[in-house]
Amino acid sequence: MARNFLRSSSQSLKFRKACSDLLADILINLNNENKDHLNNLSECSGNFKDERIIEYILLMAKELALDLLTGYQAIELLQRFMVKHLSDLLAMQTPQDVAADPPLGQVDDVFEKFKEKFPLVIFSCLQLASKMSLHSEIINNDTAVQFLHSVGFSVSKQTLLESELMVLKGLEFRLNVPNPLTYVETLLEVFGHNEPSIAVDRLHRLCCHVLQFVSLQRTAIYDSLLVTTTQCVNPSREQREKFVTVTEDYMLLGVGVIAVASFILYGRKWEQVVEELSHITGISSRSITDFAHVTLNHIVRKPVLP
Ligand SMILES: *[C@@H]1O[C@H](CO)[C@@H](O)[C@H](O)[C@H]1NC(C)=O
Repeated sequence: MARNFLRSSSQSLKFRKACSDLLADILINLNNENKDHLNNLSECSGNFKDERIIEYILLMAKELALDLLTGYQAIELLQRFMVKHLSDLLAMQTPQDVAADPPLGQVDDVFEKFKEKFPLVIFSCLQLASKMSLHSEIINNDTAVQFLHSVGFSVSKQTLLESELMVLKGLEFRLNVPNPLTYVETLLEVFGHNEPSIAVDRLHRLCCHVLQFVSLQRTAIYDSLLVTTTQCVNPSREQREKFVTVTEDYMLLGVGVIAVASFILYGRKWEQVVEELSHITGISSRSITDFAHVTLNHIVRKPVLP
């Protein structure tokens, strides 16, 4: 996996250590993984990447001294688990339930029952992500119970275990899901390899901030991007639905984040960076620039007009 090569055991990233064959393979893998993901989107993809949940997970990760990659992994696991779990629950409705008028009672019931479990499910995603991480300490059940208690949530180790198993089963034991930070870091490694003059470490630090900004302002940023790309202030429902292939595109997010960070670091010279990123990924310079413009506008809080 990419991160094996990108991180040293001391937590700090070591760029320019991977050979070019290996890098090419990693990049091809990421690209395929991204394409698979985009070909298998559900209607609700992205719906559980609510900014408050993202903030909550990233803060918990920080508090528990987990690395950033683990935090983002937990966000992705939660998203997938929720879509699968709620679809399964709703599919268990009997034909009579569905035919009932109004059929909403059942749906409310499903959500009401799930509400109690939700905080623990979020925590389980983080705990599972920590177990997948090569660089963070695993959250063991003592730490978990203590931490949850400290935030006013008392659970037994047994309940914790059950929640973790439920999430694991819901995910069909697939924990190796695309992670936006892996995309950013791999693209940076390739970029640093192709452009020896670039200060990759500096760019990387800034990219982490930019990715966090984009994640925490996701809705607003992608709404503006939709307006920019459709040139339409009130995009139709169909345009919105189609746009999920943009909001869920990790490669675009990766190059977009690097482009924004390059603009902040290099000013005018960033156009060369955009060209290079376009060359590496095949994503058009126009798409990268649009993403970067919109994000920069949000950073400086300017409204975006089509
Ligand atoms: C708690 O963790 C310990 C060691 O990691 C393990 O032996 C034990 O079975 C766990 N308890 C539960 C209820 O999961």
